[in-house]
Amino acid sequence: MNILVNDDYASMSQQAAAIIEAHICNHERTVLGLATGSTPLGMYEALIEGHHTRGVSFKQTFTLNLDEYIGLQPSHPQSYHSYMHTHLFSKIDIPLHQTYLPNGTAQSLSDECSRYEQTIDKVGPPDIQVLGIGENGHIGFNEPGSAFSGTTHVIDLAPSTLKANARFFDTMDEVPNQAITMGIQSILKSKRILLLASGENKAWAVKKLMEKKIDDQFPASALHYHPDVTLVIDQKAYSQIQSESR
Ligand code: GLP
Repeated sequence: MNILVNDDYASMSQQAAAIIEAHICNHERTVLGLATGSTPLGMYEALIEGHHTRGVSFKQTFTLNLDEYIGLQPSHPQSYHSYMHTHLFSKIDIPLHQTYLPNGTAQSLSDECSRYEQTIDKVGPPDIQVLGIGENGHIGFNEPGSAFSGTTHVIDLAPSTLKANARFFDTMDEVPNQAITMGIQSILKSKRILLLASGENKAWAVKKLMEKKIDDQFPASALHYHPDVTLVIDQKAYSQIQSESR
């Protein structure tokens, strides 16, 4: 596991985008696994800037998102469909039929999970999978206790995740309490993983990850089974490691 520590969120975002941009520019076809949340927003802005200022084209890029809330229509402003459209897809030249997210309003959620896993295998696996990390160590929406052998599945969101997500909704009742997420096994299929973490609220999770102890109560620790993981983080997310090594 490599760790790249940047001074701040802006340089961390630039660095993550540069890794993706280099892959796109050097390959005929790129498959990206994408994440939502506040952490990758700066990286998406940097990718959009690359498109506008350096002419990076996404016409041969395919995307597979990690997860989607259950019960939110794709048009709901807080759905991950809307997030991706607003923060990336509408601002670059990617053909929309090359962008994939789980459907959280499917009639049969179990059929949707199998279908999405097949899509990952057919379109992917991702050349680069971007991940954020939850304060409790979740990746995608694989909450503590999720099986490391899990493929795309329905998950009940942990109370701490509901609390963290509440800031995006008017009332707590509106916060979806379930999601469809790629499983840990699905995530580990990717060829390379970039995990982004920014801010002091992620410092504990980053420190725990760097302890290299495999623990199913800390889902991100499954990444130690993957041969090519790079943590792209900022100083604040690194702060607990730093203060211990002083
Ligand atoms: C959600 C997403 C994750 C994301 C996490 C952290 O739970 N499903 O993919 O990594 O939030 O979000 P943030 O980057 O806003 O801290």
